Amino acid sequence: MGEGVLTGPATADVAALLADAGLERRGGSLVMAGVPLSAVADSVGTPAYVYNADAIRARYAELDRALAPVPHRICYAVKANANLAVLRVLRDLGAGADIVSAGELARALAAGFPGDRVVFSGVGKSADELRAAADAGVGHVNVESFEELELLGAVAAEGRRMIPVGIRVNPDVTTDTHPYISTGKSGIKFGVPTDQVLPAARFIASHPQLELTSIAMHLGSQLTDTEPFREGIGRLLALVGEIRTAGITTIRVLDVGGGLGIRYGAEAPMDPAAFAAAIVPLVQGSGLTLYVEPGRFLVGSAGVLLASVLYRKHSGGKSFVVVDAGMNDLVRPSHYHAYHEIVELETAGRDVVRVDVVGPVCETGDFLALDRPLPALERGERIAVLGAGAYGFVMASNYNTRRRPPEVIVQGGRFAVARPREEPDALFRGENPTPLD
Ligand SMILES: Cc1ncc(COP(=O)(O)O)c(C=O)c1O
Repeated sequence: MGEGVLTGPATADVAALLADAGLERRGGSLVMAGVPLSAVADSVGTPAYVYNADAIRARYAELDRALAPVPHRICYAVKANANLAVLRVLRDLGAGADIVSAGELARALAAGFPGDRVVFSGVGKSADELRAAADAGVGHVNVESFEELELLGAVAAEGRRMIPVGIRVNPDVTTDTHPYISTGKSGIKFGVPTDQVLPAARFIASHPQLELTSIAMHLGSQLTDTEPFREGIGRLLALVGEIRTAGITTIRVLDVGGGLGIRYGAEAPMDPAAFAAAIVPLVQGSGLTLYVEPGRFLVGSAGVLLASVLYRKHSGGKSFVVVDAGMNDLVRPSHYHAYHEIVELETAGRDVVRVDVVGPVCETGDFLALDRPLPALERGERIAVLGAGAYGFVMASNYNTRRRPPEVIVQGGRFAVARPREEPDALFRGENPTPLD
């Protein structure tokens, strides 16, 4: 697992992690897609996110190839990394987009995704968001409750337009991941319980402007075992059977969600071939098109967060390396106790020491690594935090009134800024110190 293992495996598979990111060492320098990361850091400063477009393409191609035996669509989960340049890479590959808000819808459209390649998921969509989805002609809206379904019916009726609907089922499947990102078990907020699926299907079938086109699930994130997918798909197919028996024959899509896990330390990531081998036989013969919604799998390994060492200090028998990237830049270590491998940008051949790598934010919980064996870094030296391409920048905040970092995209020996560092005045733009005067 990549979550809940902050101090991490004794030996992370650094060679494999570098390969996953499309990183290599040349004369001690860390190079991504032909670009020395120190050149990126020199140009844009630190902290900074850097994404390898070539690595994203390779990941997409691997999964696409594995799923080739069945009609399928890979709908990239925009929440993992919503930068427009990243979205454009995936759109150009033919991906669809899985979105969870009107903001993500606007991003997907701005990046050029056709509306009908967009799937709208999420447990709490507002009426305005449902209207925006209908206006954009999304491929389908995955509803997560009966009340949302009734609202969607009203939205469809007011605009007199057909809205394709998916029912996101809670299949009650147990997964081995951090509880905050386990989403397919009964008793949590996600999905329609299995005993309410047939009534929901009947409601949709009886509504003149709704059409049931998809049955969906999303079990959770950072899953490395195929068995929960097999179990969940078995339950979805049983429901599809019941719905068809009830005379509703419009379902065309089996949406099995995202959640394919990646390598953060020494764990075996989800292998696309093994994933496909486990699920394709279940889908073949159903007559359904398979949709998958991976986020982390496509972009997680392809991104790094660059940071610089500000200070070193010793306190209470411990050694600290204070860097310029904090929990506001990458919250995963603090929030999920997630392990992220840290490597030097330029190797200096120093001895390994145990340190806490901490950020500048005023919280004891502001750290990137605890009790981590690392080469003895010195002030001004730079590091790369690996596996930062997913749930990195998108979860960044302005806490402590810190600017969010730039995002840089790299491919074929070139790099470009895809989003600049936030300007200082953007931090309080629109605020009024005397609004009551
Ligand atoms: C409905 C849905 N689909 C897909 C994903 C993507 O998950 P992952 O990035 O683990 O693939 C999520 C993540 O929360 C989700 O909620």
